[in-house]
Amino acid sequence: MADRSARLIRMKGPEDKDSILKAVQDVFDKDTWWRYTAESVRDFEKRFARARDCEYGVSICNGTVAVDVALRGLGIGPGDKVVLPAYNFYSLPKSVANVGATPVFVDVCRDNPTISAEETRKVLDSGVKAVIAVHIAGAVAELDKLGEICRDAKVALIEDCAQAAGAVYGDKHVGSWGSVGIFSFGGVKLMTSGQGGMVTTSDPDLYERCYAIVNRGSDPRGGVNRLGIVGDNYQMSVLAAAMLEPQLDLLRENGEKREQVMRFLDREIVKLDGLFPLQQFAPVRSRAQMRYAFLCRRGGSDAKHTEAFVRMAKEKGVPFDTRFYTTIANDERLFRRYATETMFPMAKRAEDEIVAVWHWDVMRGIDYWGKALESLR
Ligand SMILES: Cc1ncc(COP(=O)(O)O)c(C=O)c1O
Repeated sequence: MADRSARLIRMKGPEDKDSILKAVQDVFDKDTWWRYTAESVRDFEKRFARARDCEYGVSICNGTVAVDVALRGLGIGPGDKVVLPAYNFYSLPKSVANVGATPVFVDVCRDNPTISAEETRKVLDSGVKAVIAVHIAGAVAELDKLGEICRDAKVALIEDCAQAAGAVYGDKHVGSWGSVGIFSFGGVKLMTSGQGGMVTTSDPDLYERCYAIVNRGSDPRGGVNRLGIVGDNYQMSVLAAAMLEPQLDLLRENGEKREQVMRFLDREIVKLDGLFPLQQFAPVRSRAQMRYAFLCRRGGSDAKHTEAFVRMAKEKGVPFDTRFYTTIANDERLFRRYATETMFPMAKRAEDEIVAVWHWDVMRGIDYWGKALESLR
């Protein structure tokens, strides 16, 4: 716990921690912290959604549940299929199973661990009701192509932005390209309240349905929803929303520095033997990732070599990490029947080759990283 808060402070500086503490204190002073819902939470939802180029936001207790809510809000259930990438955060396929739908895995892009638009196109049939694009491990998905494919096929595009809270693709923020965006404010995210999440959309009906599911069947205007949704209680606490409110500005303020360091790392990484930057899609203006990532091909595409490289870097004090996501085929015992290792060669390469740096370490700055990379030559 102490370690987590130390990361938060290092990431944002002591004055920023003060603004978070003040926001929490204000809620205590107004004596609204104990409420199930409060105006301050609704205000945060609106501000967050607008900052992501969306009309509506529904705050939620975490990002895992946010995916379930998005699927339920879209009316996806038994008999439906949902397309998602084979290299993924492990809770995503479970969300699909939770609503009774069938996951359809597809491979990711070459040198970019997000869902391949071309592979997605191949699996779309009348049973598919949604595609989930996950912005993951340092990369933003190819949203213009995926958006077009989903529009043509009349299926919903869900964007999982848990790792990319402020990323911009073309002229819009991620989370606004599809029918619905989901966000996480878990402990290691760019904005964090320890636990927390959000669903964003510009569709008023979808908003009402998601709101009812999260808020025990209520209507955003008050009273019981007119849709007959019974709903659950997946609400964010008032204290969590208070912690997050000042971080919206901090995310933007830190964004420029984060991007500069990431671009520096892209340029410099390639000068080291066997290391390559991820391929980013041209419209990506800001990747706003909770991790910077690159590819290690020392001795070919082989997890053992990548692990040996990361061990060597760690011994020199360079904070690299590897193997935090695996292909569904390797990891998800529940979903192995849908996938074998050889079915998704690009996902396997991502699993074996990706090396990453946490965002609080990215924020150590260009001088730090210049010296760190020098030590690895
Ligand atoms: C891509 C992705 N989706 C969903 C989640 C789930 O979010 P949470 O940890 O808030 O449940 C995470 C968490 O790290 C994630 O990385």
